[in-house]
Amino acid sequence: MLKPLLQGIAFMATATTLQAAPIDLIIDTDPGADDVVALFLAMASPEDLNIRAITTVAGNVRLDKTSRNARLAREWAGREDIPYAGAGRPLVRAPIYAAEVHGEEGLTGVQVHEPKAPLAQGNAVQYLVDTLGTAKPHSITLAMLGPQTNLALALIQRPDIVKGIKQVVVMGGAHFNGGNITPAAEFNLYADPHAAEVVLASGVPLTYLPLDVTHKLLTSDARLKQLAAVNNQASKRVVDILNAYITHDMDLYGMPGGPVHDASVIAYLLKPELFSGRRIHVSIDSREGPTFGQTIADWYGVLKQPANVLWVEQGDAQGLFDLLSARLARLE
Ligand code: RIB
Ligand code: CA
Repeated sequence: MLKPLLQGIAFMATATTLQAAPIDLIIDTDPGADDVVALFLAMASPEDLNIRAITTVAGNVRLDKTSRNARLAREWAGREDIPYAGAGRPLVRAPIYAAEVHGEEGLTGVQVHEPKAPLAQGNAVQYLVDTLGTAKPHSITLAMLGPQTNLALALIQRPDIVKGIKQVVVMGGAHFNGGNITPAAEFNLYADPHAAEVVLASGVPLTYLPLDVTHKLLTSDARLKQLAAVNNQASKRVVDILNAYITHDMDLYGMPGGPVHDASVIAYLLKPELFSGRRIHVSIDSREGPTFGQTIADWYGVLKQPANVLWVEQGDAQGLFDLLSARLARLE
């Protein structure tokens, strides 16, 4: 009798020791319909993700609205993570927005209101400088779900903050898929390519989840039903948001479903085994013109330059929706 018990304990001990410490995470975001789904997934995963802060940036809509929407996501998820507002415009180029995709309020399919809890005191860029500048070496992960303006400004101000960064995981870029805001460029990169260049040049460990992978992780009627079957407020909100959000891309590309771009970044942090890619050399075009904001992904190593990005190109679509459904079930 003892033996099986001991085996059980041994297994439990092993399982316990295998339980990794939560990822210290800062989420930089421009909510944004898919950003809110990503925030729900992250805030429903406290045992895996220690969300230090949510920093907001202008992108899908203006900063005042992305910041309000981040506060709404926090309120709807019942979490105390306090958003910090950051940069209201890109480094160099004129601001662009994507209200035609995310709606004038930056959130499709649901009613918005002014959340009770205010933004945190202070600016997101200063928060990044202070937090990353004093963090244990290579301890903090950043999930970049919008234009990379805040992180770029922090790196320009204090280049040595790289020492506090473990890795930067970016939703952005496109290579095999082609762009979604121009034929060559994906929105987050197009909205501030100069910022993405600053982050790339900093040498931080970088992973990109481009349209190459997010356009393979699509909703379907069955997956939306799977989410609806979670049958709580959070899942209803996600289904309402997605039902409104996905129509633009389904019509534009003639796809059978819509991508949930930013949720893929959080899923990658939670279950990297759902994804695969290749370390390659990436550069970014910040010259005005038809390829403005393009990510030049040297997938075959033609240029024989050192790899500087893990370019994620494959993902398990059903695995993503299974994970999202399971974690949404934890919310109200
Ligand atoms: O191109 C998709 C990306 O641009 C997503 O992050 C979406 O939220 C928008 O910011
Ligand atoms: Ca986004």
